[in-house]
Amino acid sequence: MVEESATNNFKKGDRVIVMGFDLGMNTWGGFGEYIRVPKDWVLKMPQGLTSKEVAIYGTAGFTAGQCVEKLVASLKPKDGDIVVSGATGGVGTMSVGILSKIGYKVVAITGKSENDFLVGIGASEILERKTFSGVDKTPMHKGVYAGAIDTVGGNILENIIKSVKMYGVIACCGNVAGGNLNTTVYPFILRGISLVGLTSQSCPMDNRKIIWEKLSSVWKPKKIMELYEEVSLEKLPEKIDLILRGIVKGRVIVKIGG
Ligand SMILES: NC(=O)c1ccc[n+]([C@@H]2O[C@H](COP(=O)([O-])OP(=O)(O)OC[C@H]3O[C@@H](n4cnc5c(N)ncnc54)[C@H](OP(=O)(O)O)[C@@H]3O)[C@@H](O)[C@H]2O)c1
Repeated sequence: MVEESATNNFKKGDRVIVMGFDLGMNTWGGFGEYIRVPKDWVLKMPQGLTSKEVAIYGTAGFTAGQCVEKLVASLKPKDGDIVVSGATGGVGTMSVGILSKIGYKVVAITGKSENDFLVGIGASEILERKTFSGVDKTPMHKGVYAGAIDTVGGNILENIIKSVKMYGVIACCGNVAGGNLNTTVYPFILRGISLVGLTSQSCPMDNRKIIWEKLSSVWKPKKIMELYEEVSLEKLPEKIDLILRGIVKGRVIVKIGG
């Protein structure tokens, strides 16, 4: 919420979203209760979202929205299953929740034993991470999936690229499993697949508005209020340690005043 504004664009009491740009990069204050930022980073919060829901989405939810935007531009639910890697992570849970809400069948890749959680948020099928982590020299596997949201990169993305069927689309947003990608041109030139990258940090404001509008309405996961846990600022370091070890599921938000 705006407390004070030096521009005419915003006034005290406006509900706003500030995410990406330089915040959390070179500009500190992501966990602060008050922060002064340039007006160009600030977006009016759409109707249909509470401040808490925006925090639950966070950068992860917005990034999931960007990935979904890339997929729905080319794929319809009838085209087939969408595979989501890192499915219990922040981007993963939001991707599963959004895709299932809008009618896609979602196959979740996870390293955790959280099948009930994933089915509860909309996954139709769960695959153990290790089934997607192998390395082989075959340029392509059987084409099974219509598309994918890959949050992890590395060998898993390599295997997803090999397993997407004709004209499939893969949205690539993360590097948890690694920044390297070994692939061949064959899935691209024989199946016509697309590997689409995206960045939340410098997403243009016009596109941000469109995505947040969708996140506030048609894309809002049915169980969004079950996708987070709240921690105090004091407990945050130990939670960050668990996040970095890949143990946490869903989103973690910081308790205001905690
Ligand atoms: N492009 C952008 O603008 C943008 C924006 C936001 C985030 N990101 C990136 O997207 C990725 C995911 O972000 P997040 O917020 O979802 O992170 P997160 O909450 O930490 O979730 C990551 C998930 O990846 C899986 N994982 C953990 N270690 C792994 C490993 N060694 N190999 C394969 N999978 C592993 C785990 O899910 P399972 O146990 O279910 O497998 C984990 O929950 C990160 O790389 C992040 O930097 C990019």
